[in-house]
Amino acid sequence: MKKLSSFFLLVFFVMNISAEDGHDLWLRQKSTGNVTVVCDKNSPTLQLAIQELKQGWQGKNNAAITLSIKPDKALKKDGFRLTNAGIQANNDLGILYGVFELLRRQQTGQPIVETIFNPSYEIRILNHWDNPDGSIERGYAGLSIWWRKGDNSLTVTDEDKALWKEYARANASIGINGSVLDNVNSSPLMLTKEYLERVKAIAEVLRPYGIKTYLSVKFSSPSQIGGLKTSDPLDPDVIKWWNDKIKEIYSLIPDFGGFLIKANSEGQPGPQDYGRSHADGANMMADAFKPYGGIVMWRAFVYAANDPDRARQAYLEFMPLDGKFRDNVIIQVKNGPVDFQPREPFSPLFGAMKKSNVMAELQITQEYLGHSLHLVFLSTMWEECLKSDTYQEGIGSTVARCTDGSIYPQTHTAIAGVANIGLDRNWCGHQFAQANWYAFGRLAWNNMMSSDQIADEWIKLTFANTPSTKTGTDIFNNDWNVNFLAPVKKMMIDSREAAVNYMMPLGLHHQFAANDHYGPGPWYGPKNLRKDWTPVYYHKANADSIGFNRTPSGSNAVNQYSEPLRSQFSDPATCPEIFLLWFQRLPWDYKMKSGFTLWEEICFHYDTGVQQVREFQKIWDKVQPYVDAERFGQVQSKLRIQVRNAQVWKDGCILYFQQFSKRPIPYNIERPVHELEEIMKADLKKL
Ligand code: GCU
Repeated sequence: MKKLSSFFLLVFFVMNISAEDGHDLWLRQKSTGNVTVVCDKNSPTLQLAIQELKQGWQGKNNAAITLSIKPDKALKKDGFRLTNAGIQANNDLGILYGVFELLRRQQTGQPIVETIFNPSYEIRILNHWDNPDGSIERGYAGLSIWWRKGDNSLTVTDEDKALWKEYARANASIGINGSVLDNVNSSPLMLTKEYLERVKAIAEVLRPYGIKTYLSVKFSSPSQIGGLKTSDPLDPDVIKWWNDKIKEIYSLIPDFGGFLIKANSEGQPGPQDYGRSHADGANMMADAFKPYGGIVMWRAFVYAANDPDRARQAYLEFMPLDGKFRDNVIIQVKNGPVDFQPREPFSPLFGAMKKSNVMAELQITQEYLGHSLHLVFLSTMWEECLKSDTYQEGIGSTVARCTDGSIYPQTHTAIAGVANIGLDRNWCGHQFAQANWYAFGRLAWNNMMSSDQIADEWIKLTFANTPSTKTGTDIFNNDWNVNFLAPVKKMMIDSREAAVNYMMPLGLHHQFAANDHYGPGPWYGPKNLRKDWTPVYYHKANADSIGFNRTPSGSNAVNQYSEPLRSQFSDPATCPEIFLLWFQRLPWDYKMKSGFTLWEEICFHYDTGVQQVREFQKIWDKVQPYVDAERFGQVQSKLRIQVRNAQVWKDGCILYFQQFSKRPIPYNIERPVHELEEIMKADLKKL
């Protein structure tokens, strides 16, 4: 009998730990005691706050917490004051955010002392690149949670609502308060009545969690679905069409957030098709939104083929328009001047556009960072960008401060992240990709947070309640801290630099295989393709040199930066080595700070990247006793894929560039294991 019950116990235990599919994200912690919640108001949001407190409470058993809403000038709109006795805020949402902060502090063992928490940005928004047929552009975690194809594609089911609610809760727990529901390469379908009805249903589920819905819209909608002859933004019928459409939207969704627009970019229609400017297009829509408090997020991701340097294009098109946008338009600028590369300098538009609302667009989905196959914690990349000094208003004019209203009097402040969420059971494809969703929310709330702290929180919330971790009341015992938390955190913190090393070290950029942007493709440069869509255009390797000359003797993109950066980037001796080949074209024998030649240094970086991923494998294998079987196995297997792909990157790039450098691969690094022809063939076959 005894044997039998231990057998069942064992089976129960094994089933329990293997049933960890990651669906619960960082919200898996359960209460360890009772709490009495005192709150003299009632609303759907407050009810959620109370429910969260009860189900996640890990403070003193039978404690009492007071939630109070009263005006407080020290608090911004969604801010809150946290004390040991409770949470005070200006609105219900502030209370909900306060509850999540309190619980996070309890669950991660952080002190709770009286503190004011104010968000860095008013709008903290996810951009979903989801298409009406349910596919996701650059999505690596399954199909869309919003849209699907098929006969009943627009029917709202209970499962839909349950999933949207979980999504909303996860976002609210990290302070995200907006969702753009469809792809920037948008479909005019989105503005039809049937689709708007579904948006209304989504908005109703997201609303209690404080999340507003937004849509990406096609600029040519008036002619495509409105039956008009033109979509010229200055045409009275077009203006009326947008006014009517926006009125219709608000009759369905009274708190609708606004539009996100990709115009005159990568073939999308826009005001320039009618000889009008971005400002003409954006302002026309902004005026229609004005009575309802809606906004227009107008993307600056443009690169007409009329300049020899793609990195200069957004600045050239948008700087002359600074000050010409309505105050409910926000210019959405990608973190770097090209396109979400593993490393880019910050976009020179940050800080330079002084009379417009400007927001950063970050990419959470790993289009250029190994999809959902590679473990890459992106927080360090975003931190690097946000903390970059633009010097536009003197020392300390960081990208963070140039966008959060600290330096310029912006009417609206915002930050966007391109979501990595899909129907995969674990939401993001890779268990560790959840950390990027988490990190985006935390940085959007507090743009000064360190990646170390974000990783620390996320690991504790995500992995600390598996059976082998918690012992009694001891939240994080020393063994767990030393043997799990520390090595896993180090792996996360190092992971982005590892990806830069094995993909594009020393400022090399856009060396990707065409279209899928996963493996290497420095060889790719068909004659009939736009040059700036080929890696060859970016590395410019020949027998003497490699790199893109953006100094005054080259494209002079450096001129778009303020001093002292302009001079620093112009001189190879002062240009940070991480950006060297972004700004400089240098001979293979150029002497690096290390004393090695540029060629040798390139080789070392590729090799280091591979070694780093090998190290991650060891770290992960060693922490097996601390992780449930299912998540352990998934991550282990993805690390194997990652190391194989890193090796392909290293071999492909080193062997390809060696054809130009004609120098030996330094003898103290591991030799390539693939043939160049084999890698190229496999890559070009995909086209
Ligand atoms: C990249 C990406 C596209 C996307 C575009 C954008 O070019 O590859 O899929 O549409 O960025 O941000 O608009």
